[in-house]
Amino acid sequence: MSSYEFNDHQFDVVVVGAGGSGLRAALGCAERGLKTACISKVFPTRSHTVAAQGGISAALGNMGDDDWRWHMYDTVKGSDWLGDQDAIEYLCRNAAEAVYELDHFGVPFSRTEEGKIYQRPFGGMTTNFGEGIAQRTCAAADRTGHAILHTLYGQSLRYETEFFIEYFALDLIMDEDRCVGVTAMDMSTGTLHRFQAKQVIMATGGYGRAYFSATSAHTCTGDGSAMVARAGLPLQDMEFVQFHPTGIYGAGCLITEGSRGEGGILINSEGERFMERYAPSAKDLASRDVVSRSMTIEIREGRGVGANKDHIYLHLDHLDPDILAERLPGISESAKIFAGVDVTKEPIPVLPTVHYNMGGIPTNYHGEVLNPSASDAERTVPGLMAIGEAACVSVHGANRLGSNSLIDLVVFGRASAMRASEIVKPGERHAPLPANAGENAVSRLDHFRNASGSTPTAELRLEMQKTMQENCAVFRTGEVLQEGCDRMQKVMTAMDDIGIADRSLIWNSDLIETLEFDNLALQAVATVEGANARKESRGGHAREDFPERDDEEWMKHTLAYVDAKGKSKIDYRGVHNYTLTNEVTYIEPKARVY
Ligand code: FUM
Repeated sequence: MSSYEFNDHQFDVVVVGAGGSGLRAALGCAERGLKTACISKVFPTRSHTVAAQGGISAALGNMGDDDWRWHMYDTVKGSDWLGDQDAIEYLCRNAAEAVYELDHFGVPFSRTEEGKIYQRPFGGMTTNFGEGIAQRTCAAADRTGHAILHTLYGQSLRYETEFFIEYFALDLIMDEDRCVGVTAMDMSTGTLHRFQAKQVIMATGGYGRAYFSATSAHTCTGDGSAMVARAGLPLQDMEFVQFHPTGIYGAGCLITEGSRGEGGILINSEGERFMERYAPSAKDLASRDVVSRSMTIEIREGRGVGANKDHIYLHLDHLDPDILAERLPGISESAKIFAGVDVTKEPIPVLPTVHYNMGGIPTNYHGEVLNPSASDAERTVPGLMAIGEAACVSVHGANRLGSNSLIDLVVFGRASAMRASEIVKPGERHAPLPANAGENAVSRLDHFRNASGSTPTAELRLEMQKTMQENCAVFRTGEVLQEGCDRMQKVMTAMDDIGIADRSLIWNSDLIETLEFDNLALQAVATVEGANARKESRGGHAREDFPERDDEEWMKHTLAYVDAKGKSKIDYRGVHNYTLTNEVTYIEPKARVY
């Protein structure tokens, strides 16, 4: 172990992750005079934000009346009352400013005839507290994430963020309860690095790849959340996993909800537009949990399409081909490549596919990480923040509305930069690192690098992915979830026999994939254990044995503590049933009507 040497760096702020939230945070810190590093395992413009399609929500009112209070109401309702209403207020009231800021940074949004930012309808977005359909989702055709990511990268360079690209973050450096930095490996040289920082901001995205079929990139392995779990801190609401209704059947690639926003409809084997039955008012634009469950029921009851009756058709072929070319060029191309379908003539075969993790690292609306104690549910971890999909702030609660993800990235990326600049004085001296700083990372790295068991990582990863797909899916029961918990414990035990073939440190993809799998597995355990414990149905968590939402008992956040061996402990903390200001009042829970 002593053969590993660290290269040491000191920064005011270190951001881990270079997607939408990481870049927005990094440029915000650098702009405020903080010496800022951004570590990313991929080139920034390859971060998964690049794949976001349909748009970013903000009540701009460019295409009809809108109001951020209506957006707030929809988000609370969409969250099935698990969202923290102070954070939701913060998100929705700051959304318009954050989008105009992106516009001024140079994001090439699509335009209306008058030159305003184009906005399309998205699921669950309404006017006047549920009365009408809102056009609230600001779009750059169907490549909105791509446009935002490239623009934010340019802006980060303008403010002189120092990038450490193709560096794989390993673990947090903690000094007792305070985070003082992060360790990372430069994958191209194998050198190890300690980044000392006054503030570490985790922006490492979700862990969709814990599942077999996901719209997420293969890089979505939730590395930051696993680092936080290994530091003994909790993960929150991990049982809430969003299935996007329209992943391409077989390939899993995303077909944006914007396609239904532009008029696309879902059809079963009987040629029926079945969403009219399940959600008479919102129809195909009901929230994603509702549409995914409805599709699953159609398939289960024998009304799926195709030879095996195991998927559904998304029709766009009744829409004007010019509109498809202008507003949905990306998915038209994806449908051709991955399903062999010409969207102007044929339906796209689709299936609900894992898309988003509502759960993550618990934070307040400044992005500060929470480590609740018996006496203080809002206790923060000094020196540590989390934003974006890695975080659970919690604005999405039990179910996220489409296009609320991109706005979450930029609003809370910006909020964390503002908070960091209040806490950190530029250039202030660092305290010496603890004597053992980085040892945890080295021993984990060394353990896997020299692992000489007989089970390849890929085999165990596949078992984890199948477990999650089969035992923690759209519909759940206690029996199936318990089996999932048991299967995941077997996966964790089997890791003692893992073997990797490559012992080098330079571009060792076997090693990196093993570290990523280890990260995923901890989060898979947290997900299935949290789901087994929650005996109600809410948002994306649909228990057939407990079909009702139970606000009396279960309107609370799950906190899952998982150690490096996959042993877990479940606890809870209260949902914030208060708003940020007196301008809006707490939105009382209601039964969901579609
Ligand atoms: O359907 C989509 O374009 C995805 C958007 C989102 O997840 O916010």
